[in-house]
Amino acid sequence: MTTILDTAPDDDELGLPAARRRSAALERQIHERPGRFRALTGDRPTGRLHLGHYFGTLHNRVRLQNLGVDMMVLIADYQVLTDRDVADRLAEHVEDLTLDYLAVGIDPDRATVFTHSAVPALNQLLLPFLSLVSVSELGRNPTVKDEIAHSRQSAVSGLMFTYPVHQAADILFCKAGLVPVGQDQLPHLEVARTVARRFNSRYGPVFPEPEALLSAAPLLLGTDGGKMSKSRGNAIALAATSDETARMIRGAKTDADRNITYDPAARPEVSSLVLLAALCLDRDPHEVAGEIGGRGAAGLKGVVTDAVNDRFAPIRARRAELALDRAHIRRVLRDGNEWANAIADDTLKEVREAMKAFY
Ligand code: TRP
Repeated sequence: MTTILDTAPDDDELGLPAARRRSAALERQIHERPGRFRALTGDRPTGRLHLGHYFGTLHNRVRLQNLGVDMMVLIADYQVLTDRDVADRLAEHVEDLTLDYLAVGIDPDRATVFTHSAVPALNQLLLPFLSLVSVSELGRNPTVKDEIAHSRQSAVSGLMFTYPVHQAADILFCKAGLVPVGQDQLPHLEVARTVARRFNSRYGPVFPEPEALLSAAPLLLGTDGGKMSKSRGNAIALAATSDETARMIRGAKTDADRNITYDPAARPEVSSLVLLAALCLDRDPHEVAGEIGGRGAAGLKGVVTDAVNDRFAPIRARRAELALDRAHIRRVLRDGNEWANAIADDTLKEVREAMKAFY
């Protein structure tokens, strides 16, 4: 399998419209020959995944896997420590995340689920990679700046500044050509591309330059109208029961206009609920809103609750079943880690040979 793409983007194509155009072109290439692509993406194990993750990325990962793309799914456990001092209940979160992945359809026979702390050679790549970026470049990363601004820590750790380079190692260790991510990850992807380019020109060609595959992630708000987030208690977990789902939707923020419409700019909370129902039903949000019409917030909430509970019933049932077999979950991780280690060892060997640090 090769991950080198035949149409590299121009160097000045860094903006969002360009990234979108590029993603559309990549989609066409994937459909033509899925088997030549390896994709890597992942999550920090900080809690259970929610519906925003499902429609934003999980769904897309399963789609790529089913098309025949070689999917690497990373549980980024070291990255948990970027904005907090201790990684609480890490093992539990790692298992929960694995359960979420398997429940939505990530298939361990076709995809690799692994944790980066279990792959020493991946982490060793961080050292040569750090030598390839300047301190001022690290300080300019907009996603890092934003995370520092929202961090609950009193002091910013060195990991906060350097984790994008570690993330470059996540991507480059397996020479992934595709990184399916949301917009906020684009600066990190630029770091990975820069590291690959600089490594290759300093030591010889080892790494393909990875490309972002932007998914058209729908913007779902939390039930309080704010950004949906694991830590804000405003997200419906994939694994929630139908009662929990009903309760959260009942408490969701709406507005005083009884006529339900889909108008995200003017009515963000109501529109987000309409969108959630539409996504679950695979329907157009305007149509869904039109049918609810004058039945008001209560009518809307009833439709959304049923739509979510129906759509996720099979996923939740599968998750509950998988949760009974912890040994299986641990085996999936062990196998994934073993394969990731084999890949990482090969890459590190190439890196050391290229650097003439092989004795
Ligand atoms: N930073 C990503 C997030 O918070 C998680 C992540 C870690 C990741 N390493 C990655 C995503 C490599 C894509 C590729 O969501």
